[in-house]
This record gives sequence, C-alpha cells and structure tokens, in this order.
Amino acid sequence: MALHREQWASKLGFVLAAAGSAIGLGNIWRFPYKAGQYGGGAFVVAYIVSVFIIGIPVMIAEFIIGRSAQKSPVGAFRVLRDSKYWPLVGWLGLATGFVILSYYSVVGGWIIKYIVVSITSGFQTGTASANFTTFLASPWQQVLWHAIFMFINILIVRGGISSGIEKWSKVLMPALLIILMILMINSLMTAGAGEGIRFLLKPDFSQLTRAGMLEALGHAFFSLSLGMGAMLTYGSYLDKNINISTSSLEIVILNTFYAIMAGLMIFPIVFTYNVNPNAGPGLFFITLPEVFARMPGGQVVGLAFFLLVAFAAITSAISLLEVVVSFFIDELNWSRKKADYILGTVIFLVGIPSALSFNAWSGFTLFGGKNIFDQLDMLATNFMLPIGGLFIAVFAGWILTHGEKEAEIKRVENTFHFYDIWHVLIKYLTPVALLIVLLYTTGLLSFFE
Ligand code: PFF
Repeated sequence: MALHREQWASKLGFVLAAAGSAIGLGNIWRFPYKAGQYGGGAFVVAYIVSVFIIGIPVMIAEFIIGRSAQKSPVGAFRVLRDSKYWPLVGWLGLATGFVILSYYSVVGGWIIKYIVVSITSGFQTGTASANFTTFLASPWQQVLWHAIFMFINILIVRGGISSGIEKWSKVLMPALLIILMILMINSLMTAGAGEGIRFLLKPDFSQLTRAGMLEALGHAFFSLSLGMGAMLTYGSYLDKNINISTSSLEIVILNTFYAIMAGLMIFPIVFTYNVNPNAGPGLFFITLPEVFARMPGGQVVGLAFFLLVAFAAITSAISLLEVVVSFFIDELNWSRKKADYILGTVIFLVGIPSALSFNAWSGFTLFGGKNIFDQLDMLATNFMLPIGGLFIAVFAGWILTHGEKEAEIKRVENTFHFYDIWHVLIKYLTPVALLIVLLYTTGLLSFFE
C-alpha cells in the first residue's frame, strides 16, 4: 500500500476531474439518442428526477465512503466494516467498470475516426448516414479505432490521474462548453428548431414506458459515473478540507447542463434534416456531419468539436480504467504500469465483440434481438449500476454511523452543507425509489398498473 495517497491539487482541480469523469459520451452521444428513443421530454424529466433524488445522494455517499476509507472500492468497504459481504459491492463495481469501458472505448474510437475524417476529407452534405453505415460495417476499422482509443487511455492512466489531466481539464472542458454553445445556437437557427425544442423539453408522459423509466434511471447513473465506485475512487484522492456537498452539487449541475445543451444541439438538426429521432447510437454521427458540411468554416469547427468531445470521452474513460487499475495496485500490490498495461489490454479484448456487433457478429443476439453492444450497455447501465447504487445507498444510510458521516460532510466549519436532508434521502427515499424502479420496470412489481 502506498504511504502517501496522491491528492488533487485544489478543489477546482477535484471538481473538474470528477466533472470530467461525469461529462463524456454519456452527455453528448448517449443522452440525445436515448431521449430520441424513449419519448423526448418525458425521458428528460425522468432523467432529471433520477439525477436529483437518486444521483446527488449516491454521489455524496461515494465521496464519503472513498474519502473516509482512503481506498479503492473493494478495499474501502473492507476497511470500513469487517464483513465478508460488503466488499462484494466493490467487486460488482469492478466488473461494471470492465463492462462499460469495453464498449465505451468502441464509441470513443468512432470519435477518433471522425477527428481524422475532419482533417482528411471534411464533411459533405447528404452523405452522413451512408458514411456512418459504411464505417460501422467494417470489422477491422471498428477494432482498429477501438484499439487506438484504448491505447490513449492506457498511456494517460500510466502517469497517474492528477498530473496532466487536471491542468488540461481547466482549459478543455470550458472550451467544449463554448463550442457546444456555438453549435447549439447554430442549430437553434435552423428550421427544425421549434420542433426540436418541443420534442426535448415538452414532456408527453404517455410516451414514457417502463423500459423508458429504467433507461432514464440507468442513464442518470451512467452519466454521473455513479454506482460502480468511480466517484468513490476519486473521493479517496480528495483532500479532507474540500466540501463534499457543494462539490457534488456543482458536478451534477455542470453535468446536466452539458447534456441539455447537447440535446438542443442535436434535435433541431434531427427535425431540420428529417432524421429519425429513434435512430439509436448513430444519431450523433448522422446529424452533426450535416451541420459541419453546411456551416462556413465547418471543417475547422468540426475538427475542434470532435477533438474536444474526444477529450471529454477520455477523461471519462480514464476514470473507468482507474477503478480497475487502482484495485490491482491497492489490493494486489501491482505496479501502476503493470496493472495499466495488462488490464487495459484485457478490456480491449473484452470490447472486441462489441466492435463486431455492427458487422461480423451483428446476427448474434441473445435477448430481445439486441446485439452484443446493446446487451452489454443494457446490462451495465440498467442493472449493474443501479444495483451497485442501491447497496452504496444502504451502506451509507444504514451501516455507517452518524459520527463517521458527519466527520466527512460537516468537516469544513461554517460552510454550506445539507447533511440532514441528504441523510433522509440516502436512508429512505433513494433506496426505496431505486428498489421500486428496478422492480417495477423489470415487471417483478406490477401493482402500479
Ligand atoms: N459518465 C461518463 C459519461 O457520461 O460519459 C461515463 C462513465 C464514466 C460511467 C465513469 C461510469 C463511470 F464510472
């Protein structure tokens, strides 16, 4: 075990790193396509409710557990309670990190490919959908770009998390915000703006199915990097003086903001160019090239945009890899370098079936006609993360003592915290809400009908 645990250089550095984990493909790629599939505004409302009554409390719980234990997830539960069972929550998180990163990296690869396209040929009108389809159909390209994305992550995690990333995040995350804003304004000036805004922000609850509710909950976990110990791990590097309550609020608000902006960037385009909102994972890649093809200076704007999205994807992916790597460092005494190379390679290999889901192995479906990529995404986000979150909530609400929790939350005298509200939420509302959604949406509980 390392004697000195690495720490974030400042509160801003920490918030940016945690926001960097949260803000990623989940906000910019996944949120719009899920909203498109599950009823627009109704999905967005279900997502926001999940973020506030489940997301914030679980995030605070993860920071408390991580900071008080000073360990990565498996070790954290063991340090805090002498029990055979609680560390299993850490193991579940580890498995979830493996699964998510394996397919996340495939999509990360798509972004890298689009950076290269922006440089080499730029974008032409009317070709976005066909180009993306051709790209997906090539097994070797899918594996190649997935490998490149994973390799970049391995190189960054080798250096340790705080050093370079903190510095770059301060510049690049705000830059992403600015470019998102420019693109959003550009989209809001197209003919489909009214319809796009209505679709995204005007809820029609008759559109919200059980599956949609579960997706919204799962997406809240996915997008905030919760339920698998990523934030717990970041909390373990957190200076004792930093206010957990305000940091969590800031991270959540920032995260929601990026997602809504991405939605307002994509949906006007969807309606302007008659794209099906239900197009699935390709939605992002078949709408935006149209924008860059038509915009003055579109090739440069497109390049800048894909570079910044790649950065956001990488800051999220390294937090996934860090969960896995820090376990092997803390628990098995592996060197960082060894853990990073070996595990990064294993995750790359595990991701290959996802990369082949759109071509060579597209016929291989298990449940509900979904390909491997969709299956893994559904398993991880709709089940593994919320179940992990449920146990984290129960641990923080029922197992840890007031003294242990107050020592973390009320640490900074005279500053804002909301321990009492948080405690009621994490003890009662969050676990009950999680349980109901999990049982109801999976059909195990049908008394709502
Ligand atoms: N929150 C990230 C995103 O929205 O892209 C994805 C993610 C990162 C999920 C880390 C889970 C995690 F632990």
